[in-house]
Amino acid sequence: MSSERVAIAVRGLGKCFPVYARPSDRLRQFVLPRVQRWAGLAPRRYYEEYWALRDVSFEVRAGEQLGIVGRNGAGKSTLLQLICGTLTPTTGTVEVAGRVAALLELGAGFNPELTGAENVFLNGSVLGLSQQALEARFDSIVAFADIPGFIDQPVKHYSSGMFMRLAFSVAVHVEPDVLVVDEALAVGDEAYQRKCHARIRRLRDAGATILFVSHSAGHVTEVCDRALLLDRGELLCIGRARDVVARYQKLLYAPAERQQEVRQAIRGETGRWPADEAGAAGASAPATVAAVARSTSDEPYWDEGLVPKSTVVYPPRGCTIEDARIETPEGARVNVLRPGDEYVFAYRACFDAPAVGVRFGMMVRSLTGVELAGAVSHPASRPLEFVASGSRVEVRFRFRNRLNAGTYFLNAGIVGMQGETETYLARYVDVAMFRVLRDPEALATGFADLGVQPQVEAG
Ligand SMILES: Nc1ncnc2c1ncn2[C@@H]1O[C@H](COP(=O)(O)OP(=O)(O)OP(=O)(O)O)[C@@H](O)[C@H]1O
Ligand SMILES: [Mg+2]
Repeated sequence: MSSERVAIAVRGLGKCFPVYARPSDRLRQFVLPRVQRWAGLAPRRYYEEYWALRDVSFEVRAGEQLGIVGRNGAGKSTLLQLICGTLTPTTGTVEVAGRVAALLELGAGFNPELTGAENVFLNGSVLGLSQQALEARFDSIVAFADIPGFIDQPVKHYSSGMFMRLAFSVAVHVEPDVLVVDEALAVGDEAYQRKCHARIRRLRDAGATILFVSHSAGHVTEVCDRALLLDRGELLCIGRARDVVARYQKLLYAPAERQQEVRQAIRGETGRWPADEAGAAGASAPATVAAVARSTSDEPYWDEGLVPKSTVVYPPRGCTIEDARIETPEGARVNVLRPGDEYVFAYRACFDAPAVGVRFGMMVRSLTGVELAGAVSHPASRPLEFVASGSRVEVRFRFRNRLNAGTYFLNAGIVGMQGETETYLARYVDVAMFRVLRDPEALATGFADLGVQPQVEAG
């Protein structure tokens, strides 16, 4: 629901912070250059310059939702603070049209000595609402924050979660023209986060411009049409949210020695993202910024950065696993998968001792380690009776990918009978990882697509 009107214009924006090697240098910097100037000497500098943001330019149209992604320290919060005016730029300009409500990481706009209720009025009036309008909305603000018993307590006694709940509630109730959200939804339980997302969608549908910083690729693609990728203070690319998020994940999972190469590749990609042609951003973006052209996310592919760092190999008992991989049915090695397609999880089992009662297994786990789906090659009642020492066994699990968008890990394991008990001969945790692409038309939510067929009839 975006218009041609520009809501936010950022041009050549840069922010340089002074970094002091020792706390005492801060005092030296405050005092000595004045003395040196007074004495007719050239003033010395007692700090290093750190550019948290460099030459960033883009525009956001009214009613547009722009996601901002990037690794820790990329400059996302700095950018938002410059846009909200809580930091002043070192270079460049920011122009924002309309009322801005910001949910920055912590602290902005609230007085810790005042109670929650007093802060609602203080913060609400700073955001431009009259006393009368705030009184009319007060109950609704308190109800949405859902911090029973705390509204009349000083804010300094709040947990950071309670603080954010109240700040979020005020921000969405002032009906801002521009809503700026910095990871604020990371606090609170899942039910509360869902409530916040629903509220953001309502504001979006009512035409608010939203800037949304999150480390969650899923949330960015859900809330935003477009996204920009910041890295080390530099705008690497701007374009369709899911394309930018795919590049962000590529950068995130790239091994340290390949980071620079991946950055260059993202920065160097040229072409135009269709919606940018109509929009202001494409026209004003500097030449170094790649407007993402094509969705590489439409086909399964191999992303060499997507290698698990959490692999655990249990001590082997006569067997090892080699070359664990995912393939397409045609045999192409992939780790970025499309939802709904068929793939094969394959590995080679190398036996250096004879084994009896053998079964091969696989398990898919979520990022947080929840076991989502697994399979074994044989039922417990009919295992492979005997495998000779020196055998090489190719194990292939063909499956239809019914997982929704997200990042997943694979375990591989081989069990055999040792006496009366079945034990692991080989066990590899997080031996491979893969990502499932988002289908923008998908109706399924959560981890798995159960093939639900919704039916909605007006009564
Ligand atoms: N006041 C400051 N003084 C010095 N350096 C700062 C200051 N504020 C931020 N920085 C530095 O600027 C860089 C960008 O910080 P910023 O908080 O914008 O990153 P971010 O992308 O929001 O990271 P995260 O994902 O961890 O929230 C960091 O290296 C940070 O250490
Ligand atoms: Mg931040």
